[in-house]
Amino acid sequence: MCGIVGYVGHGDAVSFILPGLRRLEYRGYDSAGIATVSGMSLDVRKATGKIADLEALLASDRPPGTLGVGHTRWATHGRPSDANAHPHLDCQGQLAIVHNGIIDNYRELRKALAAEGHRFRSQTDTEVIAHLIERYQTNGLEAAVLRAARDLRGAYAVACVASTAPNTLIAIRRGSSPLVIGFGRGETFLASDIPALLGHTREILVLEEGELAVLTPDSVTLRTLDGLPIRRQPSTVLWDGEAAEKSGYPHFMLKEIFEQPEAVRNTVRERVDLEGPEIQIPELGLKDRELAGLNRLCFVACGSSWHAALVGKYLVEAFARLPVEVDIASEFRYRRPVLDSRVLTVAISQSGETADTLAALREARDQGSRAVAICNVVGSSLAREADGVVYTRAGIEIGVASTKAFTAQLAAVTLLGLKLGLARSLVDPALVRQVAKGLWELPDLMSVVLQQRDTIRGIAERFVERDHFLYLGRGLHYPLALEGALKLKEISYIHAEGYPAGEMKHGPIALIDQRMPVVAIVPRGSTYEKMTSNVEEVKARDGVVIAVATEGDEAIAAKADLVIPVPPSLEWLQPVLIAEALQLLAYYVGVLRGCDVDQPRNLAKSVTVE
Ligand code: F6R
Repeated sequence: MCGIVGYVGHGDAVSFILPGLRRLEYRGYDSAGIATVSGMSLDVRKATGKIADLEALLASDRPPGTLGVGHTRWATHGRPSDANAHPHLDCQGQLAIVHNGIIDNYRELRKALAAEGHRFRSQTDTEVIAHLIERYQTNGLEAAVLRAARDLRGAYAVACVASTAPNTLIAIRRGSSPLVIGFGRGETFLASDIPALLGHTREILVLEEGELAVLTPDSVTLRTLDGLPIRRQPSTVLWDGEAAEKSGYPHFMLKEIFEQPEAVRNTVRERVDLEGPEIQIPELGLKDRELAGLNRLCFVACGSSWHAALVGKYLVEAFARLPVEVDIASEFRYRRPVLDSRVLTVAISQSGETADTLAALREARDQGSRAVAICNVVGSSLAREADGVVYTRAGIEIGVASTKAFTAQLAAVTLLGLKLGLARSLVDPALVRQVAKGLWELPDLMSVVLQQRDTIRGIAERFVERDHFLYLGRGLHYPLALEGALKLKEISYIHAEGYPAGEMKHGPIALIDQRMPVVAIVPRGSTYEKMTSNVEEVKARDGVVIAVATEGDEAIAAKADLVIPVPPSLEWLQPVLIAEALQLLAYYVGVLRGCDVDQPRNLAKSVTVE
């Protein structure tokens, strides 16, 4: 995530940048920094922690300048620290850059630049950008930024100021990292998101993918990254401050549901090699030889993260033929699990602060197990204590119910399964290639599911008054039945149960009547026929079926009462698409019942007590 703010004008740069960063703090808050230019001097201030920490620093040591950039960080490469905080500088300390996104090829660039004598001060991917611009700075800043952009691979938004280019702020964007330009009188603003601009201007222009902007106090010039001129008029935003913070979405939960394609893309990028086949997870901290020597894997987690672990069990067992146990962390820590050095314990947690998951990880390590984390928050307790960390790169999640962190966890356990399969030489390389390609293309299919939003809202409207729901799934989709039911419970306060559909006959079938909707997860694949039989059994007892099914499946449409279509995909990846559909259903039921979906009663985002 990360938030960027920039200012060029005649006023005091810090007076705009600091409040702007505060409004972008939702994008990350593990360090913050600013750089201002005054005359020929460039001043930088950084602080680990929240914007308040930077503010405290600036209270006694405020740099002058009418040009500047600021940044609030959500760490991806390098733990939160002053050295890793943005802005980052070139060797001479003449130019400063701030960055949101990931530079995929930073390792090779860093190596080449270091060989040329560039001295690096941080562990970030970002710092290579400053040194690259420095390398090319012979014909002025704009030409150097354009040239440097040609060497960068990945998705990024970058803002740059230099003491050699007064009254000039340069921004570039490639991929999904957003940047918005604001037009004032004798001043021009830049930010990752509109809230930072409100109160200063409503005239904005969104920098599009593959564009460069040169901002001065009185002008904005746009070019493609190939240097071709672009003409575009600003538009006027009508949002108020609160709506703007949610980028126009009524709730953070909906915003985060819609951020899922980006979350999965960021989690997968850099890690899959389509040609390989190779899965690169160096952060795992285990050599292939060590992975090959494992005889068991134990997942530990709570809540939605536990559901991701259940999906992980199917995938790891299928790809790596390694026995997998899945434990609820609060059970694991109190039941004297049998572990040794050939067992890999994998703790899954969005926050990395869940007390039980942390205790389970400690218990595993105490018993001699290798222990790694799948985690969304860099520098969290879990990440610090684990032997290795696979970060889900979902960005900060504000809604209490896990959405984008969950689907990013599903992507991470898929990568882990493939990695283990390759290390153990037990997976067909053709299958790895197929799944890796599927992961790469998955964000596009995820966007297709999100387009069903109105259909799903229509379905939600019909069931708002119900008191109970049953969710059924088989195989990989059984954990999704649990997850769908949990989402509905926590944000709509409707009682819901998730069940493996084969168990229906052993009890829950007694509950079925016209008042209790049954959500049947029935996409085409290996469990399709059995699930179809379950749908018929529900219908035979006058039950009401909402089927989550493959789009165009007329046979299911004829049997079920309502259908939420998902696009066809590899079976291994279907859980991600189904998760989105079930999140939207729960979201709309919750909203229509007037519930506070972002902060449901009695819950907290991070459960740091037992
Ligand atoms: C459900 C939800 C919770 C969390 C659980 C674990 O929507 O968000 O069930 O999944 O509290 O939290 P983390 O993943 O932070 O350990």
